[in-house]
Amino acid sequence: MRFPESAARLASTRVMPARPVPSLVDDVRAGLLSPPRRLPPKYFYDDHGSRLFEAICETPEYYPSRAEAALLAEHGVDIIEATRPEHLLELGSGSSRKTRHLFDACDRLGAACTYWPFDVSAQMMLDAGTALADDYPWLDVHALIGDYTGGLAGVSLPEAGRRLIVFLGGTLGNFEPADAQAMLEEIAALMRGDDALLLGLDRVKDRGRLEAAYDDAQGITAEFNRNVLSVLNRELDADFPVADYRHRAVFDAEHARIEMRLVAERGHRVSLGALDETIAIDAGEEIVTEFSHKFTPASIQRLLARAGLKLDAHFEAGDGDYSLLIARRAA
Ligand code: SAH
Ligand code: TRP
Repeated sequence: MRFPESAARLASTRVMPARPVPSLVDDVRAGLLSPPRRLPPKYFYDDHGSRLFEAICETPEYYPSRAEAALLAEHGVDIIEATRPEHLLELGSGSSRKTRHLFDACDRLGAACTYWPFDVSAQMMLDAGTALADDYPWLDVHALIGDYTGGLAGVSLPEAGRRLIVFLGGTLGNFEPADAQAMLEEIAALMRGDDALLLGLDRVKDRGRLEAAYDDAQGITAEFNRNVLSVLNRELDADFPVADYRHRAVFDAEHARIEMRLVAERGHRVSLGALDETIAIDAGEEIVTEFSHKFTPASIQRLLARAGLKLDAHFEAGDGDYSLLIARRAA
């Protein structure tokens, strides 16, 4: 028997936002024109940024990706046996590198499913989808291009079939706490009966390891962080002096989060052509580019409970370095 051409098993659609999503111009107007300056993290992931993120995952300091991959490799079969997905929806799927452990488990169990990766970085997702369709002859890939901050109501999964929603990489930790809670509620709204959520979250640990994970010695994370300014220069006809910004990652223990910042090393003016604005930035001024919240077993329980979910299985790496968990709808 011949398998259908793998290209025939890769489809893609755009997800319509269920609520208005601010444009880059809106976000820059709201966050950057005056201090405290802030940018939403999704703008990191242009083609160059997506490749840099893959390189961050290879650095010796960035343990979360390796910890999560090891958990998926070790428990993949248990996860697929426990959840038996017919539709696997993955939020922020990126290169889908770690998700392959789940498909390997499907392979071993003879359990086929349709894969629905959902990402803003269309090129990265389509390249990954092409490779997956080649490597897993039973896998249908239905790529969803869009911004999940616009909500999940526009994700049109078939009515029938058990669902596993996958959200890896600690990416839920990149939301503000209230937004993380709302996102989890939206995920819960997609779940019925015995559908499940597979969620990866990074854990609170000593400051040294946390800060190193977000400030690798090779400077790849620094380049990733500064790349967001190149995105603004290109998309907004702006002139940020990218090389004059220093990367800084600090752990804020009170809020249990790493804060990624860009620090201006000298005072300068930036012209934002697309906004018809000029801003003056002082030496030492900071732009917050990302939060990465870290969790404890107690904060994970609270997060799930508030979204109407309950913990079904909890896999932990090392000494509680990282959490991979299965959650289901609370009765
Ligand atoms: N899951 C992968 C990638 C994590 S990086 C891993 O664990 O290694 C975060 C991913 O989320 C990137 O692929 C990025 O493009 C995507 N992303 C970030 N913000 C997004 C948004 N608002 N909507 C959809 N995808 C987003
Ligand atoms: N989800 C990843 C995390 O919070 C994203 C990330 C890793 C990241 N390293 C980064 C974001 C450096 C900005 C800068 O761990």
